[in-house]
Amino acid sequence: MTSYVIKGASVLGAAPTDLFVRDGILVDGPGSNAEVIDAGGLVALPGLVDLHTHLREPGREDAETVETGSRAAAAGGYTAVCAMANTSPVADTAGVVEQVWRLGREAGLVDVQPIGAVTVGLAGKQLAELGAMATSAAKVRIFSDDGNCVADPRLMRRALEYVKAFDGIIAQHAEEPRLTEGAQMHEGQVSTRLGLTGWPAVAEEAIIARDVLLAEHVGSRLHVCHVSTAGSVEVLRQAKARGVRVTAEVTPHHLLLTDELAASYDPVFKVNPPLRTAADVEALRSGLIEGVIDIVATDHAPHAVEDKECEWAYARPGMVGLETALPVVLSVLGEQWELIADRMSTAPARIAGLTGHGRLGAGRPASLTLVDPSARHAVDSSSFASRSRNTPYAGTVLPGRIVATFLRGQPTVLDGKATK
Ligand code: DOR
Ligand code: ZN
Repeated sequence: MTSYVIKGASVLGAAPTDLFVRDGILVDGPGSNAEVIDAGGLVALPGLVDLHTHLREPGREDAETVETGSRAAAAGGYTAVCAMANTSPVADTAGVVEQVWRLGREAGLVDVQPIGAVTVGLAGKQLAELGAMATSAAKVRIFSDDGNCVADPRLMRRALEYVKAFDGIIAQHAEEPRLTEGAQMHEGQVSTRLGLTGWPAVAEEAIIARDVLLAEHVGSRLHVCHVSTAGSVEVLRQAKARGVRVTAEVTPHHLLLTDELAASYDPVFKVNPPLRTAADVEALRSGLIEGVIDIVATDHAPHAVEDKECEWAYARPGMVGLETALPVVLSVLGEQWELIADRMSTAPARIAGLTGHGRLGAGRPASLTLVDPSARHAVDSSSFASRSRNTPYAGTVLPGRIVATFLRGQPTVLDGKATK
């Protein structure tokens, strides 16, 4: 196995130093015959960890596979991703989660940790085989019906009770379905002007409020996916102040984009939950900085051309995110590297229990990414490693280029290019 000296890297923005990699581990001094990588001017971060990635395999390999999604993740500086369960068939059995886990190992570009469905077929009627998925080779710890809300409160309570035994987590897509029937975009001034049916903020906030109470009652861990409203941040703030075991994520797009973009009727801006108002964006940014929102997660949602390049009403919701997440977050937060490392690596690794990720230091696995903060580039979706192109940032100039990514001491990306 090749040893490396990563020369002159600024670890989390600190003064330049050399990093030594031997046998896949960060060590104190150079090994013999180490390959030198010039990291002058580059910032080293622990490999990014995404708690919310849609990989589409099995079922929609035309939109993404475990391998192409892994490539997109590595290109974006990620070393681990959690794969959402809304595949076809749904990842609601030990068989399917093991299949995804095995495909991830075979691709070998990032650690792919499957998320299991909460209910059979994501139908919200009957609990899936949570225990069988937890004890499978995939060792599932996070369960989610993402795409759908676990709307039935009794089922949500049972799921929280079930996973408590092994310290599992229920990750909720918070959307009260009766309040979002026919919804096309955020309910507000823009939806009124455009005459489109709205998705009201309260549909998210009501579910989060209910679920933090259920999690508190049961004493279980709840994770809230893609928080999108100022009101949700307030509900979470109060729950955390009471000591409820709740964590939450925000997507890069909800930190940057607003519902005004729907006026273009370009379905690339259609996403669930929808883009909200500038005031929501402001509250989400503050919530993330304060830690009321624990992490940034991409909700990378690749879609085939025919599912996206059609009328707004028929387009599937979602945008790809893995290859632009860090540049978008950098443009929002600026060069607050410790904060970025925590929200995009350390905290998601801790929540997901991915102990080999999230921190740099001697004796730790050399899973890291090197970023050139001074490089600005126009996003070119034709060069994406993802199989899908549904990005809202095509042509947008963003800061920060991922120069290299290492997974346990093996480069997956070097000089901005995939190594295999
Ligand atoms: O925009 C979204 N896309 N939101 C979701 O909840 C699901 C996801 C998908 O699977 O495409
Ligand atoms: Zn979702």
